[in-house]
Amino acid sequence: MARGWATRFQKGCAFRVLNTGPKGSYRRKFVDSMMFSDLTTMDASGWDILKKALNQRVVVVRSSLVPSYRNRVWLVETDVRPVVVKRSLSRLSPVEFETMLLAKRAGLSVPYPLYMDKDYLVTEYISGDSCDMLVNTMFSTRAAEGLGRWFGGFHESMDRFGKPMAMSDAVLDNFIMHEGEVFGVDLEDAAPGNPMDDLGQMAASILGNEPFFTPIKFDLCFCMLEAYEECTGMESMESVRPFVTKHLRLSVRARPLYRRPFEDVAKVLDKTWPDLA
Ligand SMILES: Nc1ncnc2c1ncn2[C@@H]1O[C@H](COP(=O)(O)OP(=O)(O)O)[C@@H](O)[C@H]1O
Ligand SMILES: [Mg+2]
Repeated sequence: MARGWATRFQKGCAFRVLNTGPKGSYRRKFVDSMMFSDLTTMDASGWDILKKALNQRVVVVRSSLVPSYRNRVWLVETDVRPVVVKRSLSRLSPVEFETMLLAKRAGLSVPYPLYMDKDYLVTEYISGDSCDMLVNTMFSTRAAEGLGRWFGGFHESMDRFGKPMAMSDAVLDNFIMHEGEVFGVDLEDAAPGNPMDDLGQMAASILGNEPFFTPIKFDLCFCMLEAYEECTGMESMESVRPFVTKHLRLSVRARPLYRRPFEDVAKVLDKTWPDLA
């Protein structure tokens, strides 16, 4: 028997025969099945919730883990339709389900929520390009304007107990441009709050990602804010400035190496928008 070959598989576990001692002495070593499984595949409860969301006989063609900082998110292609399964480590899936449904009913561009329990959320899959790529790589003014309009619609139509709602996770990663329209996909943090916080966070997400603080990034930021003003009729360009500095300072906490340039820009923004002419 060759050294280290898997010899037999029992109940999902593999055993290897390893030559560990003197010649002829073999020890059977248990090798954790996890060594052989792909850690990016969806877990058993994810499969369960998927069956409940679609139907028991759904055939999964492929599933892939989507990059996510806070949760575990899979894009699942099935014989029925592609869906997104999100395992909410924050256990906010009921909140996200409800907010998504209310937003959908208000005519906003968000995925249709299909099913949820306390840990999982299944939603419609939105195809298209990430606004992170469109803004930071393609410098797309259409994406920036679409973002402004999306926030305009969200702040105008969403409230809870008479208080305006804020998305509260207004970063480019959470938006997808689908057939020319911007969709917001991550609503788990949505809560009553200050709409200016969303705009400030989005502006900081545009300015504070590579390439950092270039003139075109400021222009994209202004496009986003102008579209918001057009949509809501509310002045935002000046009122948002303190919120941009707040979110630049917050976002750099996770990137201490960039602290100095971020602080320099925040200090300028504390007084005025920089003159880029
Ligand atoms: N309905 C969806 N359609 C397409 N892509 C999605 C959808 N929901 C999430 N995604 C993708 O998965 C990523 C992570 O999902 P998200 O809900 O933002 O999780 P997290 O709360 O961990 O950030 C998003 O940035 C987006 O690229
Ligand atoms: Mg997200």
